[in-house]
Amino acid sequence: MKFPKDFVWGSATSSYQIEGAWNTDGRGPSIWDAFCQIPGKVFEGDTGDVACDHYHKMKEDVALMKQMGLTAYRFSISWSRIFPQGQGEINEKGIQFYSELIDELLANDIEPWVTLYHWDLPLALQLEMDGWLNKEITDVFVDYAQLCFERFGDRVKHWITFNEAWVVAILGYGQGVFAPGRISNTEPYLAGHHILIAHAKAVQLYRTKFQKEQEGKIGITNNCDWREPLTDAVEDQKAAQRALEFFLAWFADPIYFGKYPKCMEDRLGDRLPKFTEEERQMLLGSTDFFGLNHYTTMLASEAKQINAGSVYGNGGLSEDQDVNLALDPNWELTEMQWAVVPWGCRKLLHWISDRYDHPNIVITENGCAYDDQLENGEVNDAKRVEFFKGYLEECAKAIEEGVNLTGYFAWSFMDNFEWASGYSKRFGMHYVDFDTLERTPKASAKWFADFLKQ
Ligand code: GAL
Repeated sequence: MKFPKDFVWGSATSSYQIEGAWNTDGRGPSIWDAFCQIPGKVFEGDTGDVACDHYHKMKEDVALMKQMGLTAYRFSISWSRIFPQGQGEINEKGIQFYSELIDELLANDIEPWVTLYHWDLPLALQLEMDGWLNKEITDVFVDYAQLCFERFGDRVKHWITFNEAWVVAILGYGQGVFAPGRISNTEPYLAGHHILIAHAKAVQLYRTKFQKEQEGKIGITNNCDWREPLTDAVEDQKAAQRALEFFLAWFADPIYFGKYPKCMEDRLGDRLPKFTEEERQMLLGSTDFFGLNHYTTMLASEAKQINAGSVYGNGGLSEDQDVNLALDPNWELTEMQWAVVPWGCRKLLHWISDRYDHPNIVITENGCAYDDQLENGEVNDAKRVEFFKGYLEECAKAIEEGVNLTGYFAWSFMDNFEWASGYSKRFGMHYVDFDTLERTPKASAKWFADFLKQ
């Protein structure tokens, strides 16, 4: 396999999934701390209270990275560790932790790639302003971003504003299976809209105040699976295209074209908010690279009848895009029940390349979960090796065919807290029988309030 000489090789994590130390040294609570306490939300009641204890083992972890030969490491900052209330008072101990991590990485020749938001919103902002439903939060995010640029920007040269806005919107505000646990078919579009605006504002700030001096790059990471038409029928091909637009173009079109995809406008009507002309201008071109998290592929067909009760039939996702999704029974599955389909990765890279005029793409996450067994203190992870080989071969082919792919980060650097699946090995988040869980749209806000009082 041939990769360009300056290709970035790294691995990724996120704050809530690895840090632990949830109330140490002045960290404020996040919506994930609260969400984990709601009975039934996280498998077996697991929490990120301790997780990989990275907060205390940071130096050991960086030594492991060095030993693995990583040249780049993508991590996220816990907003409530540096602004315990989301805004206002700064927690210098939190700043110190990230500052030391960055120094440690650089001392080991590992390039830090920093995500500002990987889902762990300060709980105070959820309670006080309704999280991403309130447009004013976009300015609070910018203040947080500014502090990060000021304190870390002398050493951090790669910034990612948001990780997977789709997940926040759909799983957090549509299906309610991730924090803040809201169930709605309008809120996902509003939350997503505000995330895009917050992204654009933070990029504008970086570009006007910091980029010239700090000489870094800034972008956003979106997630997308590949959608392969189930049959050659035109309606299935259209369904697959529509599914990709509802998934990835939802967040990428505003940045590359200044507007949402037409199929979303047509189908969503007033539920899809509109950008002002100023926001449109701010969004256009607001990324220095195309961050992509890619895990799997599904077969898409025109929805003649929605799979009622399946997770894809809930929360305004399937209903709005009118696509049925299925798996080819011949595909191998990971423990997350995600199909291993390396060629899907190459097709997606081409789709992005064609639609957005050949951007510089960085795969900021790709990987697999397997039920690893320890044998004499080691893991014989043949399946994982095969997975990476398969996906990287397709990446190499895509590059050969002209796709401008410039980096690859494996998910994850460590086994960690997998959100609603907790630490389980056999619990794919998309296969939870969500209907057995408590579904009370407004209850979570009240629950958060009670939690804070404790
Ligand atoms: C992504 C997410 C990561 C991790 C991964 C699967 O959607 O960004 O935090 O959960 O999926 O392991």
